[in-house]
Amino acid sequence: MSNNITWHEHKISRAEREKLNGHKGCVIWFTGLSASGKSTVANLVEQKLYQRGVRSYLLDGDNVRFGLNAAPDTLKERHGAEFANRFGLGFSAEDREENIRRIGAVSKLFCEAGMIALTAFISPYRRDRDAIRATLDEGDFMEIFVDTPIEICEQRDPKGLYKKVRAGEIKGFTGIDDPYEAPVQPELHLDGGNKDADTLAEEVISHLENAGVIPAADRCQDTREGMVEV
Ligand code: ADX
Repeated sequence: MSNNITWHEHKISRAEREKLNGHKGCVIWFTGLSASGKSTVANLVEQKLYQRGVRSYLLDGDNVRFGLNAAPDTLKERHGAEFANRFGLGFSAEDREENIRRIGAVSKLFCEAGMIALTAFISPYRRDRDAIRATLDEGDFMEIFVDTPIEICEQRDPKGLYKKVRAGEIKGFTGIDDPYEAPVQPELHLDGGNKDADTLAEEVISHLENAGVIPAADRCQDTREGMVEV
């Protein structure tokens, strides 16, 4: 390799990890506008998986931007302005690309650990989502479009951000004055405008069962902590 780094195979394979976990690893990639319901649905899916004894971890846009993908302002105090400007992320097209690239790489690690990575990022650019898909094996990437009309997102406005956008306090907001490129062929298309979050989460669980990622509910046995395959 030109940059003097070498890939090392782990002694424990992904298949062995999946066997230990009792289910497959995969990446469930939610995409949609701000306030479309991505985080809410992803959280409900994670709860349902947990109840079945399935190991998952939710990477959530807002939370990840506090740490791994912190904003320049957050990094400045400890690391200085130059470092903060180089590694901190905002919402320019390039910063969103890097945000999604890092999350893609982290979710791939979860997948290799035999876990289900759930991600809830706007991920507005098709090219960036497709780039993550291309790093994973066929079937490991499930793109889920939380399709909620912008009028409803703006009406919900749980963080008061659409209001700030309308007041001119935020520029380049997805769906208003920055693009959102809807998935062309998502594995699952959720009607976030008409169905409640629990119904949508059930649709995701059914999809995972049908795709053979998790055992069907009737092949699980209830335990005090969760469900185990019988
Ligand atoms: S992404 O575009 O890079 O995928 P991400 O999901 O991490 O975005 O973060 C989106 C969240 O950041 C939104 O839900 C909202 O709370 C906040 N946010 C702040 N500024 C913007 C902006 N200009 N566009 C979209 N979301 C923004």
